[in-house]
Amino acid sequence: MNDLKPVAKPGVAMPKFGTGPVPAHVAIVMDGNGRWANARGLTRIEGHKAGELALLDVVAGAIQAGVKNLTVFAFSTENWKRSPEEVRFLMGYNVDVLRRRRDQLNAWGVRIRWAGRRPRLWGSVIRELEAAAQLTAANKTLTLTMCVNYGSRIELVDAVNEIVAKAARGELKPGSITEKNLTKHLNSSYLPDVDLFIRSSGEQRISNFLLWQSAYAELVFDQTPWPDFSRETLWKAISDFTNRDRRFGAAVDKPAKRSRGK
Ligand code: IPE
Ligand code: IPE
Ligand code: MG
Repeated sequence: MNDLKPVAKPGVAMPKFGTGPVPAHVAIVMDGNGRWANARGLTRIEGHKAGELALLDVVAGAIQAGVKNLTVFAFSTENWKRSPEEVRFLMGYNVDVLRRRRDQLNAWGVRIRWAGRRPRLWGSVIRELEAAAQLTAANKTLTLTMCVNYGSRIELVDAVNEIVAKAARGELKPGSITEKNLTKHLNSSYLPDVDLFIRSSGEQRISNFLLWQSAYAELVFDQTPWPDFSRETLWKAISDFTNRDRRFGAAVDKPAKRSRGK
């Protein structure tokens, strides 16, 4: 199945990145489907449909760039506020995309994981996510986490509740919780911190995505609506990332040399 390995699109070469390392974990808020469609006289649902190929191309581009973890926001715990028709479409669509694409992703060596809450999420979506995770469990090229019915605050609340329950059973001492320990109780505990956080469509907000995990992420807000997003847009963001100076609170004293006579 190696022949299905993602290859560069003809005529599209990966740029030379900056001096810093490629991000180990890229998180993307796939935003702008509805506006993209409405601007073309189409319904929001048509916009979601157009996002499928963007996702596939971005996964291929991430593999080419050497990114090991890609986490994408597909449906938030707040998205239930949308019209019943749109919610229904999105639920069914998640099932369809996973079914249509899992073999291709599997052939690329992608490990598919799900992060999100069970309550309220359609059983068919959970089953499909779990089947895809099972099929691809041994893959090592890239971990693709699909965030479906995901919200960062509730993920933290769920973790705290689990910790409190353990403490009540005497399995944990009150006062013994560390940052590492809290992270272990998250749904997405197998992921490293987010290095690069991308949002498409020009919106400049986090919208409850990976708050804890993105504490020191580099942010890129790209104008491109998600249906027009591609591996090239991803590479542009990675290129930007590799030219940034990540200090994590530290500092280096490097006074510029002043020329004589000044
Ligand atoms: C992102 O696009 C996809 C989902 C939230 C499922 P939107 O549907 O939010 O599109 P806009 O932001 O309304 O254009
Ligand atoms: C965030 O986008 C959720 C997903 C992309 C799945 P939204 O479009 O729902 O976010 P807001 O409402 O503009 O903040
Ligand atoms: Mg949106």
